[in-house]
Amino acid sequence: MDIKISKAVEIIQSASHVIALTGAGISTESGIPDFRSHGGLWEKYDPAEFATIDAFYSNPGKVWEMLFDMVDLTRNARPNPGHTALAELENMNILKCIITQNIDNLHQEAGSTNVIEYHGNVSRFECLQCGAVYEGREFEIEKIIRERIPPLCRSCRAILKPKVVFFGEMIPRDATIRSQQAAQMADVVLFIGTSAVVYPAAGIPHIAKQNNATIIEFNKEATGLTSYATDIFINGLAGTTLPELVRLIKTS
Ligand code: APR
Repeated sequence: MDIKISKAVEIIQSASHVIALTGAGISTESGIPDFRSHGGLWEKYDPAEFATIDAFYSNPGKVWEMLFDMVDLTRNARPNPGHTALAELENMNILKCIITQNIDNLHQEAGSTNVIEYHGNVSRFECLQCGAVYEGREFEIEKIIRERIPPLCRSCRAILKPKVVFFGEMIPRDATIRSQQAAQMADVVLFIGTSAVVYPAAGIPHIAKQNNATIIEFNKEATGLTSYATDIFINGLAGTTLPELVRLIKTS
């Protein structure tokens, strides 16, 4: 790791526009399982049955069986040193923005301010019937989880959906535009804790590659991107490798 991480430090220090793209892997050390690793959420819930917008329309009560778990896991989670390291890089004016696929709000809780929520945020609810949007704190989440009764819209009584992107749904327009702009400006992309199998998020490093950006990947194992787009692969847990990166940047 030392040689590779030193090389990464060198490249980051001479870069002008560093961005990060994060996935579920950066939050596993906060107690939120990822999706596709052993013990991941998709081992317990088949995404075709529990995570498509059609599934929610046809049987929201069933989909909420998974959502109770997801809401419970994220509400009890706290940022880990990986999140904190990225917030520090922003403070040092090195990291320009984070595009996150995560819906857990942990980057923001760690102090990152320029965060693009590519797949939404679980702490907000929306009504697909009347369009109403609510902050999660407007509801007794503790009671919802304990009694396993989904929250209902205050105006039309429909079952609410967390404002997250289900398979079959569009990425929020604002997130698409801001992410593309960030990728087109980037000369370095920190690609952290994502398996690179879900598009359009997995396409973002390729946009950056078109302007010769350097891809620095942080993962505990090789991914779909490693063999053909990654320039430097930092193997290890993000909660260890990212603080080490920041320490070296500060001391070199
Ligand atoms: N440090 C570094 N990497 C890790 C760690 C860790 N502590 N823990 C897990 N990983 C890696 C895994 O090896 C894997 O490559 O993180 C990746 C997680 O991949 P996925 O579970 O596929 O999650 P992600 O890439 O974020 O999924 C993308 O798919 O299910 C949908 O909408 C959901 O946003 C999600 C999207």
